[in-house]
Amino acid sequence: MATNNVRKILTVVGARPNFMKAAPIIAAIKSHNECLSKAHADSQFVLQNVLVHTGQHYDEAMSDRFFADLNIPRPDVHLGVGSGSHAVQTAEVMKRFEEVLLAERPDLLIVVGDVNSTIGCALVASKISFDAGGSRPLIAHVEAGLRSFDRGMPEEINRILTDHLADLLFVTEQSGLDNLREEGISDHKVHFVGNTMIDSLLTFKERADRSDILDRLNIRRPNGASAEVQRYALLTLHRPSNVDQCATFLNILEGLDSLSSACPVIFPVHPRTRKRISEFGLERFFRSESANGNGRNATSGDGIQLVEPLGYLDFLCLMTHAAVVVTDSGGIQEETTCLGVPCVTVRDNTERPVTVTVGTNVLGGTSKEGIRTATHKQLFSRVSGSVPEAWDGKTSQRILEVICREFAKKTLPTSPEMATCTRTS
Ligand code: UD1
Repeated sequence: MATNNVRKILTVVGARPNFMKAAPIIAAIKSHNECLSKAHADSQFVLQNVLVHTGQHYDEAMSDRFFADLNIPRPDVHLGVGSGSHAVQTAEVMKRFEEVLLAERPDLLIVVGDVNSTIGCALVASKISFDAGGSRPLIAHVEAGLRSFDRGMPEEINRILTDHLADLLFVTEQSGLDNLREEGISDHKVHFVGNTMIDSLLTFKERADRSDILDRLNIRRPNGASAEVQRYALLTLHRPSNVDQCATFLNILEGLDSLSSACPVIFPVHPRTRKRISEFGLERFFRSESANGNGRNATSGDGIQLVEPLGYLDFLCLMTHAAVVVTDSGGIQEETTCLGVPCVTVRDNTERPVTVTVGTNVLGGTSKEGIRTATHKQLFSRVSGSVPEAWDGKTSQRILEVICREFAKKTLPTSPEMATCTRTS
């Protein structure tokens, strides 16, 4: 473990939805160190961050592109785990991560979200022992407390277990606080801080607006002296429960027929989903276009337009201008709420209920009728929503404040002034 006033943090990312959650925390650590005041150098912590990429996602489009778009530094350690069954993937993460943890001996581990890398690394850290006294790093879980109450969802298992292992639980919305209390997790571990994914969105929104993806997909076309953005829907589907069974996937695609008659539907397709489309022979629902500017004009009524998975900035640009977003992703429900864009979630439940009660999200379910009704409603009626509490772009800063307070408690339990080690907002 680090000595003096240096504290070592080990931050883990593994899969696509982790990158936008961790990026602002890494940036906040950097700016924390840059603005340490020389005058109070002794009472402030220098934070050394070690970034570990498990390699759960490895394609350029699923990983590297996000590092570039989000200005994430190169990982210090890459575990190269890759794909596999849940057991194989999680076990590989654990085996390889244990060696890293023993070599680095951090003071704190940060895991984000609910993917297999999240639970794998939290579980290793919870049982590690750095010395005869059994010391181990503190475990911080960012995006704690979310519950779909659907244990058939692998992420639900990952969330519950990670929360019960964590020492610091950073929560995005009121339901998270309620769920953790209900499960008997002590209040003193739980911190309502807001949403780091929204930190990323607010940081990169302007840059995303300069993306040329609308031109590449022929959605923005010249109209006299200016350019006009055509009305379009944006679709993502990748949950195993939605795409791994032919009948369910077919039903969802049939439920999208009235939407694709009403406007072009752009579908950046996840590798899992692409495999299923060809395995189940569902190509008739789609037309493939590249996003490199050589596609036909986007038009309604002739199928859903498949494009390769997009990077963060291109996707954010497409979300911002969409008439409606249809998705089974968790994070997109939150991003559309923040952008004020109508969203239909193709699931029967959500672990992010604030996006429905406060934001712009509706649950469409997975039946044909449910999807048709929800997409029609969201496309043709004005939705009004507001941005949930503390989704203000300052979440990572609040997280660092809590972390530094914890470090201070461990160093000098009787000296509360040590807590003021980060910039305050
Ligand atoms: C994982 C997460 C899920 C998250 C999703 C975002 C878990 C349990 N699930 O699901 O919560 O919403 O990421 O994408 O952690 N593949 C590639 N290239 C890649 C990565 C995957 O081709 O870079 C293919 C492989 O065939 C792999 C399949 O996609 O078998 C699924 O990948 P995997 O990491 O197992 O799960 P996701 O469905 O991506």
